[in-house]
Amino acid sequence: MFMNNKLDFEQLYALAGSTFTPGTPVNDRDLFAGRIDQLRKVSDAVTQVGYHAVLFGDRGVGKTSLSNVMSAMQIAGRTLSTCKVTCDAGDNFESLWRKAFQELSVYTIEPGFGFGQADRMGTTSLEFNLPDKSSPNDIKRLLASISSASDILIIFDEFDRITTKSVTGLMADTIKTLSDAAIKATILIVGVAESVDSLIENHASVERALVQVALPRMSKNEIGQIIDKGLTRLSMKIQAKSRLELISLSQGLPYVTHLLGLHVSRAAIDEERLEIKEQDLDKGIKNALEQWQQSVKAVHYKAVLSSQPGNIFQQVLLACAMAETDDFGYFTATSVKSPLKAGSGKDYDIPSFANHLKEFSELKRGEIIERVGQTRRFRYRFVSPLMRPYIVMKGFSDGLLSREDLSLS
Ligand SMILES: Nc1ncnc2c1ncn2[C@@H]1O[C@H](COP(=O)(O)OP(=O)(O)O)[C@@H](O)[C@H]1O
Ligand SMILES: [Mg+2]
Repeated sequence: MFMNNKLDFEQLYALAGSTFTPGTPVNDRDLFAGRIDQLRKVSDAVTQVGYHAVLFGDRGVGKTSLSNVMSAMQIAGRTLSTCKVTCDAGDNFESLWRKAFQELSVYTIEPGFGFGQADRMGTTSLEFNLPDKSSPNDIKRLLASISSASDILIIFDEFDRITTKSVTGLMADTIKTLSDAAIKATILIVGVAESVDSLIENHASVERALVQVALPRMSKNEIGQIIDKGLTRLSMKIQAKSRLELISLSQGLPYVTHLLGLHVSRAAIDEERLEIKEQDLDKGIKNALEQWQQSVKAVHYKAVLSSQPGNIFQQVLLACAMAETDDFGYFTATSVKSPLKAGSGKDYDIPSFANHLKEFSELKRGEIIERVGQTRRFRYRFVSPLMRPYIVMKGFSDGLLSREDLSLS
């Protein structure tokens, strides 16, 4: 980083961009933070013959990153041959496995003939051995033929895109077949879901063989590690208070940490400083808002759009984002009341904003919030997990929230 004894801030600016990567899953073990429990569960499934795993959680919590790190791992000293398939809506059972076998390069070792002859190493692709209209049995046969050379891990990412039940059902059958035959190959299914039920048809039949790994929001400690690991790479520091603010703004979502980490560190780099201070947070938040996923920005815009002067759509939405939630992210009208009062200075009763809540769950306001339950017992939840932190930061940037309010979110 030093050039003629003077720091090269331009180079550092670029390095920040490859360290904090909001748009890209982590691929680098050194930058991967936390998730010890989940990594252990998945590697247990890999090392134990007959077990397979499913990794599920919200969008943006780090599923793809975790599966990337898995595939780079050496488990119990053994090399792992891995392949990763990203599923498309149009995939069927056979196309999924064709993709898998295309990627799977398996090393073969042929012992040398005679004394002193070296073993011959080669690679083989199994794609060409896959019959048309392949069945779970065909998959088992092919995997059995190579699994003695090394342990195999096959990852199917974005499995939630496959909505054809017959396809996910066949995948469950395959897992069962592999498990029953004790083949040394592990399937890891990865997808956006609240539970395994919605991801794999008929998963009860394979329950015994399937390690279910839920990936929740990250803990404050894990989010802190992302910041620390990133800043260590940049040889930068951050004031303790600003670090806590970043953690709280992230709301357990590593995407947000990366987005903020990028813009906040660049704000300091722009001023040729290696320590991140409060003013960098102000600037970083503003810049992060601009780069936020377009889909989130568009839905938010639609939700608060109104031609009525003095309308309170933005205030109510902000109060929703600040409202206390249960473990599943749901809040109630009652829990919106106090942040609305804090934000607007007025004590609105529930009927005066009930209609706003209702409209937020309708098409004309972008269905930004989903509403469940019955009259008087409605519960609400933001459809996209990225919406809450966006609204909070936008509220701050628009002057509706103070710094103190921010840390409470
Ligand atoms: N364990 C982690 N450590 C550091 N950064 C992470 C971690 N998990 C996820 N991220 C970051 O969070 C963002 C979303 O991660 P990703 O793996 O794409 O999530 P998902 O696949 O669940 O949508 C990416 O910017 C990624 O770099
Ligand atoms: Mg992903």
